[in-house]
Amino acid sequence: MNFNAEEINELMRARRSVYPKDYTGAVVPEYIINQMLENANWAPTHKFTEPWRFTVFSGGGLTKLAAFQSECYKQVTEANGTFQQDRYVALQTKPLESSHIIAIGMKRDAANRLPEWEELGAVFCAVQNMYLTATAYNVGCYLSTGGITNFEAARSFFGLGSNDKLCGFLHVGVPKDTLPPGKRKPVADKVTWVNA
Ligand SMILES: Cc1cc2nc3c(=O)[nH]c(=O)nc-3n(C[C@H](O)[C@H](O)[C@H](O)COP(=O)(O)O)c2cc1C
Repeated sequence: MNFNAEEINELMRARRSVYPKDYTGAVVPEYIINQMLENANWAPTHKFTEPWRFTVFSGGGLTKLAAFQSECYKQVTEANGTFQQDRYVALQTKPLESSHIIAIGMKRDAANRLPEWEELGAVFCAVQNMYLTATAYNVGCYLSTGGITNFEAARSFFGLGSNDKLCGFLHVGVPKDTLPPGKRKPVADKVTWVNA
C-alpha cells in the first residue's frame, strides 16, 4: 500500500486536544464516530486480549451520563467528606457541551495473562487512534481522566467489573476554529542512540 508519509507526519503533529468550550455545539456525524471506533479496534494488543471497551453517549445519552456521574460523585464524596458543590454541578452540566462522549474502559483478560500495565497500554493506543481519526476528519476531541474516572463505584455503569478499569472519557465535538499550535520539547532530549 502507498501511504502519503508526509501527510501522516503532518496529521500526527497537527493532532490537538480540543476542549468543549471550543466546540460549536454541532453534532458530529455518526459515520465519523464509527470510523474512530473502528480504528481504535486496530490498536496493537499483546496476546490479542483487545482490552478496550467503549460506551458511546450522544443525544439523550449525554443527559443520562450527566445524571449518573453527578450522583455517583455525590454519593462517593459525601461518604468520604470531599464533596464540592461546584464539581457536582460541573459533572451535571458539562457533558451536554459535547457532541459525543466515549467512556473508555479496560477489560482485563479473564486469565490475567498480562500485567495490567500492558492492557492499559493497549487501551491508550486505541485512544490515540481515535484522536488521530478525529483530526483527519477535522473533528475535535480530548481525553478527560478526571471526574469519576477513578471511582470504583462507577465501573459497573460502563459494563466493567472489579478487575477492570475505567480509563477516562473522550469528549468529541466540532471545533469552532482551526486547531491551536502544539508545544513539545525536542525529541532529541528524550532519545538515546546506541550505534556501536
Ligand atoms: C492519559 C491522559 C490523560 C489526560 N487527562 C486529561 C484530563 O483529565 N484533563 C485535561 O484537560 N486533559 C487531559 N489530557 C489531555 C492533555 O491535557 C493534552 O494531551 C495535553 O495538554 C497536550 O495537548 P495536545 O493533546 O493538544 O497535544 C490527558 C491526556 C492523556 C494522554
